[in-house]
Amino acid sequence: MAAKTPLVAFLIGMTSFLFVVAGQISPLPSGGQLPGDLFALNIASKIRTDRNATTMASSDFGRIMEAAPEAVLHPATPADIAALIRFSTSSPAPFPVAPRGQGHSARGQSLAPGGVVVDMRALGHGHRRINVSVGAGYVDAGGEQLWIDILHATLQHGLAPRAWTDYLRLTVGGTLSNAGIGGQAFRHGPQITNVQELDVVTGTGQLVTCSRDKSPDLFFAVLGGLGQFGVITRARIVLEPAAKRARWVRLAYTDVTTFTRDQELLISKKASEAGFDYVEGQVQLNRTLLEGPESTPFFSSADISRLAGLVSRSGSGAIYFIEAAMYYDEATTSVDKKLEAVLEQLSFMPGFVFMKDVTYVQFLDRVRMEEEVLQSVGVWDVPHPWLNLFVPRSRIIDFDTGVLKGILGGTNPVGVILMYPMNTNKWDGRMTAVVPQTDEEVFYTVGLLRSAVAVGDVERLERENEAVLAFCTKEAIQCKQYLPHYTKQDGWRRHFGAKWDRTVELKAKYDPHKIMAPGQTIFRSPTMSAAQ
Ligand SMILES: Cc1cc2nc3c(=O)[nH]c(=O)nc-3n(C[C@H](O)[C@H](O)[C@H](O)COP(=O)(O)OP(=O)(O)OC[C@H]3O[C@@H](n4cnc5c(N)ncnc54)[C@H](O)[C@@H]3O)c2cc1C
Ligand SMILES: *[C@@H]1O[C@H](CO)[C@@H](O)[C@H](O)[C@H]1NC(C)=O
Ligand SMILES: *[C@@H]1O[C@H](CO)[C@@H](O)[C@H](O)[C@H]1NC(C)=O
Ligand SMILES: *[C@@H]1O[C@H](CO)[C@@H](O)[C@H](O)[C@H]1NC(C)=O
Repeated sequence: MAAKTPLVAFLIGMTSFLFVVAGQISPLPSGGQLPGDLFALNIASKIRTDRNATTMASSDFGRIMEAAPEAVLHPATPADIAALIRFSTSSPAPFPVAPRGQGHSARGQSLAPGGVVVDMRALGHGHRRINVSVGAGYVDAGGEQLWIDILHATLQHGLAPRAWTDYLRLTVGGTLSNAGIGGQAFRHGPQITNVQELDVVTGTGQLVTCSRDKSPDLFFAVLGGLGQFGVITRARIVLEPAAKRARWVRLAYTDVTTFTRDQELLISKKASEAGFDYVEGQVQLNRTLLEGPESTPFFSSADISRLAGLVSRSGSGAIYFIEAAMYYDEATTSVDKKLEAVLEQLSFMPGFVFMKDVTYVQFLDRVRMEEEVLQSVGVWDVPHPWLNLFVPRSRIIDFDTGVLKGILGGTNPVGVILMYPMNTNKWDGRMTAVVPQTDEEVFYTVGLLRSAVAVGDVERLERENEAVLAFCTKEAIQCKQYLPHYTKQDGWRRHFGAKWDRTVELKAKYDPHKIMAPGQTIFRSPTMSAAQ
């Protein structure tokens, strides 16, 4: 590991997405060869088989799985993608096809062992692929577009999407294939419920425009569909008037019950009531708060000493932060009054409120700052054995006791642990995305977003992840993985639960050859079965 400079020590202590020098790479099974006549197609000039191209598409942000495709398609139009898929499905031995956005998946979901990776970003080269309809209040964006670019394009019209992920260098197609969650989801739902229409190239190579009224089964299948039914080439996303600024706060707690009670109060507030526009939360386990330079993003050194005092008084060593934001426009709102009215209702540790006032873009693009710092010291591209779970509200305290204070208790993980509630009624059960199948109104997302920082960390963190999942099973906590990963179909069957039969049916309809997004390992793709 690199020498522990003050900056690196600070990163270990303070920021979200961290690092390592080396980790274990597990190859995905790979298989057959592409048919030679692929290169006689009129898309041949957009297909690359050289190592430069295939190496780029052999790994992802997680740096845990690795598998080379045989080729990479750089499509100029959705029709190029359709041509590739039709070629595969009409071959005697269809080959797998995986769209790749930014490749920010964590467990090889964007890989295509033995097949063709579609470099979605190529669609945007030299084309205008973000069109804002001001009067109608939506934006049409290519599936390959980054959310940050959509933000900038819509802001030119004073508008913006309503639901965001924490990090904006992700593609529309990539987040909509999962759900796209963040601190606005409690009010607006995940990104998938803020979409009006999609263009999809299905696994049979058809170009279909779908919506709640038009080919609704495809529309609902693809949203949260893990790339299993086709490629999203355009999404029509709902917009709202954009705020100008954000008052961004962190509130510290030592007691998990108070923390969750306050979070649930905040997410119960309607847009018309005084409340926050964004609500998330973080857990810090035995963090060495004294590490850190003067100018941390959120806390001054005086804050850090006070927080360290709080940690030592908290029996478990764990402290919890609500992270929240209130949007405003200085010309029209008095944010201070509104903020005060909300804070009065909460029970954070007296005096432990930390505030920043930033532009709307600075707030939404906040993780970029961390990324830049981490990139600059070469610690962004490291293994990330992340585990994200949705936990029913009725069991969140059990989860806290058994996992955060149990399995992970006393550790000082490198990375961030997120923990925040969402309202179940903002999710649409017709979509493929899976949430806990209980009748509770609220569930929590818990993100164990940890990085491997030393030899052996990948294995250790993976063992802990396994222990967390085993704990949920043993205690009958109905956890659902977000950005799910299972290696056996049995796991997937349990994951989808009541939605499994429908998912199989839709797969048979839209991708009967099981060629799409094989890195998800839900359905056996042709080359993977050949390799068994
Ligand atoms: C730093 C960081 C922060 C993150 N924060 C959040 C967060 O706050 N909230 C959240 O919800 N997620 C978050 N994520 C997870 C993110 O949603 C996933 O990584 C997701 O995979 C999007 O990444 P991508 O656009 O690079 O897609 P990829 O990783 O390239 O693809 C993901 C999957 O979708 C498929 N796919 C890609 N494009 C398309 C398409 N156009 N049509 C159909 N299928 C497609 C791929 O085949 C693959 O199976 C974060 C990830 C990182 C690395
Ligand atoms: C591959 O990358 C190397 C180094 O950047 C470059 O010199 C070479 O021309 C590239 N090859 C192809 C086929 O693009
Ligand atoms: C944006 O508009 C242009 C011009 O009408 C059109 O060619 C393009 O396909 C549109 N892109 C999207 C993603 O809607
Ligand atoms: C916190 O970590 C330190 C070492 O980093 C360890 O000595 C201490 O016991 C830990 N605290 C708890 C509560 O586990």
